[in-house]
Amino acid sequence: MVSIRPFNDNDNQRMLEIERLCPQGDEKCAMGVDKKDIIARYGLYDNWIVLVAEEDRKIAGWIGLTVKTIPEEKEKYAYITEVMVNPAFQRAGIATRLIKEAEKKATEMEAGHAYCYIYEPNKASRFLFEKMGYSEMRGIKFPGISTYKKLDVLRNIQ
Ligand SMILES: CC(C)(COP(=O)(O)OP(=O)(O)OC[C@H]1O[C@@H](n2cnc3c(N)ncnc32)[C@H](O)[C@@H]1OP(=O)(O)O)[C@@H](O)C(=O)NCCC(=O)NCCS
Repeated sequence: MVSIRPFNDNDNQRMLEIERLCPQGDEKCAMGVDKKDIIARYGLYDNWIVLVAEEDRKIAGWIGLTVKTIPEEKEKYAYITEVMVNPAFQRAGIATRLIKEAEKKATEMEAGHAYCYIYEPNKASRFLFEKMGYSEMRGIKFPGISTYKKLDVLRNIQ
């Protein structure tokens, strides 16, 4: 039986371990720096909530969100920062439960809509959010190019 509760500092180590088990799309996708603090990113936000799903007192997954307000915008909105489920507990509806719970919290905080970013090759995440009723707004392309020049090694050595 899955239960959902707020994050507490004792969860940190286990969540770091679970995050390392959860590649998000393909093996070439960087997992970021070697984190020590699973909630470090949340320091950026004015408010945040991390909800932890437990099964048999083991951490099965979690979801994070923050509710934002931009003065020119008419309504508050929720940014779902991440949803992560331990591979041992996947495909059992836990992410679905977490997203529903996060949306409930966002509504209580008067958010009018929710959004999140999905790494394009991450099919599990795309299918999950589609199933939860999220629709694609736009693709984001990083403005990077790689450049190339063939060097004449022998001539440079002489
Ligand atoms: C994406 C993720 C959170 C899904 O968690 P989950 O608890 O297994 O998801 P659910 O069981 O609630 O699945 C709900 C639906 O999502 C879709 N889905 C989930 N995992 C999928 C997969 N591996 N492949 C295809 N579709 C998938 C399915 O439509 C599924 O419904 P179904 O089981 O009836 O077919 C999990 O795979 C995960 O933690 N991945 C690594 C971290 C990550 O990529 N997080 C998202 C970006 S922050």
